[in-house]
This record gives sequence, C-alpha cells and structure tokens, in this order.
Amino acid sequence: MKVNQIKDLVSKMTLDEKIGQVIQLATPFFKGASDEGQITGPMKEMHIPDHMLQHIGSVLGASGAKETRSIQEQYLQDSRLRIPLLIMSDIIHGYKTIFPVPLAIGSSWDLELAEKSATIAAKEAAVSGVHVTFAPMVDLVRDPRWGRVMESTGEDSYLNSAFAKAQVRGFQGSDLKHDHESVASCVKHFAGYGAAEGGRDYNTVNMSERELRESYLPAFKAALEAGSKLVMTAFNTVDGIPASANKLLMRDLLREEWNFDGVVISDWGAVKELIPHGVASDEKEAAMKAITAGVDIEMMTGCYANHLQQLIETNAMDVELLNEAVIRILQLKDELGLFDDPYRGADEKREAEVVMCSAHRQAARDIAAKSCVLLKNEQDVLPLATTQKMALLGPFANSNDILGPWSWLGDKNEAIPLDVGMRNQLPASQLYVANGCGVNKHCEQDLSKAIELAKQSDVVVLALGESSEMSGEAGSRTNIQLPQAQLDLVAAIVKLGKPTVAVLFNGRPLDLHGVVDQVDAVLEAWYPGTEGGTAIADILFGNVNPSGKLTMSFPYNVGQIPVYYNSYNTGRPQGAINAQERYVSQYLDCPNEALFPFGYGLSYTYFKYSDLELSSDLMTPDKPITVKVKVTNAGDVAGQEVVQLYIRDLVGEVVRPLKELKGFQKISLQPGEERVVMFTLTEEQLRYHHADLSYHSDEGRFDLYVGANSQDVMTISFNLHKTKGE
Ligand code: BGC
Repeated sequence: MKVNQIKDLVSKMTLDEKIGQVIQLATPFFKGASDEGQITGPMKEMHIPDHMLQHIGSVLGASGAKETRSIQEQYLQDSRLRIPLLIMSDIIHGYKTIFPVPLAIGSSWDLELAEKSATIAAKEAAVSGVHVTFAPMVDLVRDPRWGRVMESTGEDSYLNSAFAKAQVRGFQGSDLKHDHESVASCVKHFAGYGAAEGGRDYNTVNMSERELRESYLPAFKAALEAGSKLVMTAFNTVDGIPASANKLLMRDLLREEWNFDGVVISDWGAVKELIPHGVASDEKEAAMKAITAGVDIEMMTGCYANHLQQLIETNAMDVELLNEAVIRILQLKDELGLFDDPYRGADEKREAEVVMCSAHRQAARDIAAKSCVLLKNEQDVLPLATTQKMALLGPFANSNDILGPWSWLGDKNEAIPLDVGMRNQLPASQLYVANGCGVNKHCEQDLSKAIELAKQSDVVVLALGESSEMSGEAGSRTNIQLPQAQLDLVAAIVKLGKPTVAVLFNGRPLDLHGVVDQVDAVLEAWYPGTEGGTAIADILFGNVNPSGKLTMSFPYNVGQIPVYYNSYNTGRPQGAINAQERYVSQYLDCPNEALFPFGYGLSYTYFKYSDLELSSDLMTPDKPITVKVKVTNAGDVAGQEVVQLYIRDLVGEVVRPLKELKGFQKISLQPGEERVVMFTLTEEQLRYHHADLSYHSDEGRFDLYVGANSQDVMTISFNLHKTKGE
C-alpha cells in the first residue's frame, strides 16, 4: 500500500480502533488461542475493557500454524476494516530447532553461521505463523553477574554490530513482503540495558551520553542499517529517565538523528513501570509520557488501553501522536504482506516439513561445535582416543537442560544430552555414566558411584554447569562460581589422578576457581541447544577441531568485575616497571587482566603469527593502509583460526581504550599451511566520539596489533595525518 492509502485507512478508523493498534497483549486474550482465550490472574488485573479486546492490534507469544491461523481468522471476523493482527514472539536462538545461546554463537566469530541460524529460526517461526521476532538482543555486556549476558554477543561494539547485522539479515531475508519464510526483526533493548548496576536485572544504568554513543549504541545503529523493522525499549533508566519514557533516545536520536521510521514497542510492562520508577504518578501519566517520548506499542500493560481516549478527548494529548504510531504499525503490517495474505506463511503442511527437519538439526550441530571454546588443554588430553575407557560424570552428563533460557518452544526431549552424543560415537562398553551430584546438591551415594567409575576409567569427563534457570532474564547472581556440590565433585575426582576434562554448560563467564586450576582440560560448551551432545562429542573425539574464541572476558573472581579488554589505561597503569610499587591502579590480591581475555580460545593445532607489515606507516583520509600478517598452522591437524586486528589511539582528545577490535577473519588452514591475511584500515575506522559528541578522528600515532586474542599480539605503529580543515 502507498502511504496515502494507509493514511486514508487511518482516517476511516474510530478512536477505539486506533487505540487498539497501539496495544499488544499475550495469546490468552485472543479468541481462537489454544487455551481458548482464558484470561486469568494478573492479566485480568489489566482491566482492558471488553469492547477494546476486539481491536487489539498485535499478539505476543502465539505459535503454531493451527493456533495462529485460528486466532487471525476469528480476529478478522470481528474486524470492521479487516486490518490483520500482527503476531510477535521471542524467537531468540531458534524456534523449535534450538541453536546455542547468542553468547555462544558470538564465540564462533562466524557471521555466516550466525546468519544461517537466524534464517532457519525465521523459517520455522514464519511457517508457524509468527510475523515478528523480538531479536536480536544487541546489548553490550561487561558484567557476568547479569543473567542476560547469554542473550548478547559480548563486550565489543564492533563485533556486536557485525553480529547484529548478520542476525537481522538472517531473520528478515531480502523480501519480507513476498518471502513468507522470513520474519521482521525487533532489535532490543534500547538502550543501555547491558549496563545495569551491579549486574542486577532491571537495575539503574548511569553513563554519559558519550559512552552510550561510543559503546552501547553502535550495534543498534548497525541493526537498523541492516533494516530491522522494530525497536524495543529497555526496562532501565538512562541518565535518570526510564528508557520507555526517554524522548532523547526515541524521538531525538532514533527518529530525528537516525531517521528510523519503523515501530517502537515497549518491553513487557515497561510503560506501567514508569510508576514504580517514580516518573509517573499513575497509569494515565505513564501513558502520556510513553507516547510522547515515542513508544508506539505498549506491551502487556493497560495504560494506553485505559487512558489514551480520555487524554485525547480532553486535549491533553494531540491525536496526531496516535495517528503517527498507527500509520507506522499499519505500514509494518503492509511490509509483511499481511493485507494481501493475513495468514502469511502459516501453513500446517509446510510446518510439518520444515520444523526440526534434519537439515536444521545438522545446522544446529555445526553451529554448536563452532561455538565451543577450548579454555585449557594440558598435555593435549583432548581430543580423546575412542579406544579409551571413559567415565562421564557430573550433573550434565545425561541432562537435557542444555537448550538454555529463551528456548520456550524448544522441546528438551528432543535435545541430545552429552552421554547420548558420546555413545553414538563409542562402543557402549567404553562409557560409564554417573552424576556424582546434582546441579546444586550433594548426593553421597552417587558420589561413591562416580568415584568407582572414575577409578575403572582411563580418562574422566566432568559435565558441569548452571541449570538454565540460573541465568537468563531475572537470573542475576553475585556468586558466579559453580555450585559447591559440583566443586566438591571436581575435588573428589581429581584426587584420583586420572586425566580429567571439564565440559561446561552455562550462559555467562564463570569464576572457574576450583575447576580450571584442578583439571587438565576445560571446554566451554555454553548452552549448546538441540544437538548439543552430538556437537560436543564431535569436539571431544576430534572430529571437529575447536575454533571458538571468547567474546566476553572470564574474570578471576567476582571482585574484578567489570573486567573487559577495551578498558582505559588510567593515570597510574600497572606494568612491568612498577610491579613492586603500591600506588598504581591494581588489586593487591588479583591481577588486573581477565583470567581468559576477549578473543581467547585454543585449538588442537597451533598457529604461528609472523611478518606483520603495513603498506605504509602513514595513513591519510584518502589513503587507507593495508595490514598483512602471515599465519601458519604449525601443528599436525587442520584447524580454523580467528585472526584479530586491534588498534590503540595513543593520544586522543578524550582517553581511548587500550585496544579496540577493528577487524577479524576466520581462516581454515591445513597442517603446515601458511596464509598471508590482509586487512584494510581506513581513517573512518579511527573515528570516535569527542567531548562535544562530534564523531571524527585525531591526527597522531596509533599502535596496531594483530594476534590470536586480545592479549597475545604482534605490534606495529602508524601515523594518521589529515590535511587542514578535515
Ligand atoms: C524481555 C524481552 C522480551 C519480552 C517479551 C521481556 O520480559 O525483557 O526481551 O522480548 O519480555 O517476551
């Protein structure tokens, strides 16, 4: 439809019909839902007037072609103007075929695989009738106490931006209107949610606008450049103003500066939360503040439903604010092709063919293996020889709680636990399995059994971790060690002196005391998704060489948090020369650096870096420099390496990070093979936000680093020279 046709449609709508469009309610509010529209408990307390229910413009959490078709059908029967309902759901790391959590996918540093996982998730969701996914989540994260770090791709804005684009491309494809196996994407949570104080969910965020723009906003901008159709607001405050009432963020930045013309939706209940935040005295004021600041759709509270009409009729609010929001929402419905086909992709037959098909499971297996990060491998205890007798112990030995948070449509019974994955690749008589303890509880009898089995084995694999409720939304923790029962299991097993490997299932960087210092090898498998057990077995037995690298630093302990690679130098930096001095910026009881830094991850082979050179040691705005480095596979198995390029701007107008990622390439090398890897670095990549928020580069010297992670690098320097006036 043309804009004029949409405006014409809006002009025919009654006030109630328009208000209905800016409200989103969950599935139970709708006729035709599988629970037959039973509204109970807290939902009833929203007091949405009955006559409004038939006008509600979008539904949250409906799924399955049968249900979505039936909801749409019944809805349209009651709809005077036959405006289709928009169906939105959280399809975060898969629909039913569950991929590893986003923090794990980030660790693959593989944008193609990330895009593919989003394409598959979109396809399964779209044939089940979903139109919009609440993804990607692109919040920058530096605090592993926050349970939602598992939803992000980590602590670096450059990498997050690259993954944001890849995911949006994957979800949306290239033609939302006609390709009905794609879904529209809603980038979230705008903005700053990843910086909740103390890692406590929903907590205050306090940072300068400069820092917000420099670190926290680029991934949103990238997602919008890739075409993301919606933006979701965050729960937190930003400089004292809740994000869902934040005019500076939504009107001034998003709409005016970035020209975003898509739909802004609040997070769940965030409009009404303006009351406890203390910026609105009641629902009416909350509605007024949110719509004025730019929230088009209110999710799951009744402020718009119960108060917009009165606000407009008393002239407290300009009806144009509502009209604009409705136009954007109808435009989105049109862009999805819903006016032509309100059922869009929803097709039970296609659903049966596509959802969880073998190609999707295979992709989940590949991505899960590529997401594993090998943190330690002393004496090359990994890969395991399939001729060895193995004891697989620990609470995750046979657990199917490996899908991770935000896999509400995933079926745990379809997940492959580690024991099944290993058994498929080993004679059954060689694998002994026991738990030894629960995730959070001791079990003396089981511990004795585990010890017995370990004694009879050549090697022990300990499958340890956090249950999925221990992270995700509202999953903040102040202690990020493994629970004591599991640490006790590790201690009892290592006493036996057998080669011991720990495989970790979790959604955040952990404090690995009591594990990493005890065992010979550690494989971080995250929440690996549906094919987790198979993928991890692929790594343990060497069918796949691990190539994942961390995108979020692992601290020594909680006291060090936040610890991230791109921090500032301070006026009293710690270094080799002042190692004995007291008055330097340091801890008395712990190193400053992370235990495992950003970009870190081992392989079964090893890579040698040499011959780092620049095309010139002088860069100008119209003369980028080319960086070359030789990378050699110096081991005896084929492997993949993520070659990382960082810079440091030595003198800026404001202080600059010690290192900033500016490029990376994932390459595959056969044993003995060498490759010259090339990067181009431009003046544009050296720009940053100055004190007055202007975005440009400064002349002067830059250090450039290339290496296997943010700490182990080769260094070279160049100068940026700009002619006057630039
Ligand atoms: C979460 C969002 C999610 C929404 C809808 C909220 O609690 O913060 O990330 O998209 O619920 O389910």
